[in-house]
Amino acid sequence: MASRRLLITGGAGFIGANFTHDWLRRHPHDRVVVLDALTYAGNRRSLEALELLDEFRFVHADINETERVVALLQQERLDTIVHFAAESHVDRSIHGPEAFVRSNVLGTLSLLQAARSVWLDGEDVPPTHRFHHVSTDEVYGSLGPEDPAFTESTLYRPNSPYAASKAGSDHLVRAYHHTYGLQVTTSNCSNNYGPYQFPEKLIPLMMVHLLEGKPLPVYGDGSNVRDWLHVDDHCAGIAAVLEGGRPGETYNIGGGNEWRNLELVEALCELVDAEFGADPELRSRFPQAAPATGGSCRDQITFVTDRPGHDQRYAIDDSKLAGELGFEPAWSFREGLAATLRWYLDNEAWWRAVMDGSYRDWVAPQYET
Ligand code: NAD
Ligand code: TYD
Repeated sequence: MASRRLLITGGAGFIGANFTHDWLRRHPHDRVVVLDALTYAGNRRSLEALELLDEFRFVHADINETERVVALLQQERLDTIVHFAAESHVDRSIHGPEAFVRSNVLGTLSLLQAARSVWLDGEDVPPTHRFHHVSTDEVYGSLGPEDPAFTESTLYRPNSPYAASKAGSDHLVRAYHHTYGLQVTTSNCSNNYGPYQFPEKLIPLMMVHLLEGKPLPVYGDGSNVRDWLHVDDHCAGIAAVLEGGRPGETYNIGGGNEWRNLELVEALCELVDAEFGADPELRSRFPQAAPATGGSCRDQITFVTDRPGHDQRYAIDDSKLAGELGFEPAWSFREGLAATLRWYLDNEAWWRAVMDGSYRDWVAPQYET
């Protein structure tokens, strides 16, 4: 495949950082420009290992700065946008929906405008281009226990301000294809877990609380169901769509891996108990954790007030992606969770800096443009 010149928006966030590492590992000669506003969720340190590569550049900017994005697309002769930048946490969207409309809806519109002006109406139009939009299964709403999984033709019924803002962005992306002919693809993925995830989302929050001996807050009765996918598999799915997906199409990406929240938290407790059993050094590193003092992690489970409008169940039917592009997730959930726990144990400095806010002071080894 010909080499690409990519703009990765939101590349200092959880999935964007994993995608950037993964892409440069697989395509070491491609040009990769990460554009990120470094909101609370952006962590430049997650890209530390890439900072000194010639192929890599970090730009601190907001996707709403349309003219800056236009100039960047032109100067760098970029032909591919992989759009991760967004406000992504449902609980935050309940307390402050405005930022979600600003970044997710208006920001996506700004990016589409920039792409259109350079790639369709510009003077030096690249021979091919692609705008890939990274979205979520939450746009489809909530399922009952016996309902079939979401397909690409399931009606949009977003329930949270987060889901509504992502739905709005999906519609704009679709409209830019149909109205202007922009070469777009969209992927709608289930819940991700893995390295570099901000410890406000369920799995890293529980891992960090387990290690620090804090309560494990399960919303409501813990019966809500999510489909979990390792972030490596999400990144591989996006790469498959970029390389073989048909412009104008949307693809669901999922794990075929539904878990009730309470059962998942219990599985994490067992995992941490077992890790402490296998590695006695963890007792001195994490003296507050229940197994460090002979207790069981399960004792830390606490039921707390439910999230308003809490979607009951998400499930993804990924047969289009599997059938058209031959894509299948590679990670088993047990192995993925164990590897993720290992990552958080091995990268304590990363999450401690997030927890105490010092990650914001980190200075990259290369001067920022
Ligand atoms: P994240 O919150 O960890 O990271 C978001 C990144 O976007 C941050 O680096 C932030 O600084 C940046 N950003 C936010 N607003 C910006 C703006 N206006 N301009 C420039 N940069 C901005 O999010 P994530 O979990 O990595 O999710 C990435 C994308 O994947 C999102 O679009 C999200 O909707 C989607 N998604 C996430 C999941 C999941 O489980 N986390 C599942 C499916 C889809
Ligand atoms: P989350 O990671 O916030 O992702 P999303 O809301 O996008 O699915 O939450 C996953 C599930 O875990 C969701 O049903 C809410 C629940 N949850 C808790 O029970 N406790 C928590 O502390 C968090 C953050 C989430």
